[in-house]
Amino acid sequence: MRKVLVTGGAGYIGSHTVVELAAAGYEPVIVDDLRNSEERVLDGIASIIGRRATFHRVDCNDGDAMEKVFATEGPFHGVVHFAAYKAVGESVAQPLMYYANNIGSLIVLLRLMRRHDVKRIVLSSSCTVYGQPEKLPVDESAPDRRANSPYGFTKMVCEQMLRDVAQADPTMAVVLLRYFNPIGAHPSAAIGELPLGVPNNLVPFITQTAAGLREKLTVYGDDYDTPDGSCIRDYIHVVDLAQAHVKALGWLEHRQPPTCEVFNLGTGHGSSVLEVVKTFIAETGAKLPYSVGPRREGDVAAVYADATKAHEVLGWEAKLDLRQALRDAWRWQEGLK
Ligand code: UD1
Repeated sequence: MRKVLVTGGAGYIGSHTVVELAAAGYEPVIVDDLRNSEERVLDGIASIIGRRATFHRVDCNDGDAMEKVFATEGPFHGVVHFAAYKAVGESVAQPLMYYANNIGSLIVLLRLMRRHDVKRIVLSSSCTVYGQPEKLPVDESAPDRRANSPYGFTKMVCEQMLRDVAQADPTMAVVLLRYFNPIGAHPSAAIGELPLGVPNNLVPFITQTAAGLREKLTVYGDDYDTPDGSCIRDYIHVVDLAQAHVKALGWLEHRQPPTCEVFNLGTGHGSSVLEVVKTFIAETGAKLPYSVGPRREGDVAAVYADATKAHEVLGWEAKLDLRQALRDAWRWQEGLK
């Protein structure tokens, strides 16, 4: 059985990836300290894959505890690394916490991989590294911009760390995945996003507002240089995104010599905030009070992916559309009642 270590495997994207890894015949081993997740995610995963995934409640930054996981569960066929903090605003307020956690945990992981001779790793990165690109859709050759938050900078550092490690050890096989905006939930509604406190991201805020948990949605600005004035993003269904990790791992298995490659993961299609709001209402029939407010600091006007490389090299493309993703997000939210 090809065991794959999934750090942050009880998180939003991690849990969906665990499901897809299991479906593809891998044996996922989850490491998560549940600080931004809940035990019931493991029940949700079990209800989809028909068995309980191996789980260790461990902080990925805790070298001794992680050593035990490698020693008792290994050898690992590969690692998919999600464990990280991800709230942009929080990272501005508490930068050291972000640097220590996001960068520290990757250092712990890479040292253990070296010690235990694990050669394959897939990293969760973000389109945040592009800032506001000059050319849209943006492809992987676009230059990295100065990060607009400590969170964004930790993604850039983690990418660079892996490039350097791959350079130093030519037997390392690395894929860096730059996600655009992951949304939606598993169509079974057994797993989905569980935001801590007030959601920062658009779609969880929409579903919580429609469910009556928030008073109204504020659209952050309608005076951008876009067709309807609201910001444009590339919203990708989390199940499509999860499947890309399986493709990436499979590609690394056959790639000789080993390599370090970066891929955009998006649909290639941009949607504005107002389009998302209108599509949500049309698809679900739910009531969604909203009004237009001022811009949010740090937002870029428009970003969407050129995902040609992932299609040509990994044989992956997004199959599910915005409508499906919003329906699944809503079904998940309704199940939380
Ligand atoms: C944000 C982060 C990005 C990170 C990603 C993680 C910033 C600048 N970027 O992306 O680095 O990788 O989350 O999930 O924070 N919006 C509203 N009202 C709301 C919430 C959002 O109008 O209540 C708008 C935003 O202005 C934006 C769009 O919806 O145009 C998407 O916002 P969000 O879901 O927060 O994602 P990003 O900002 O694109």
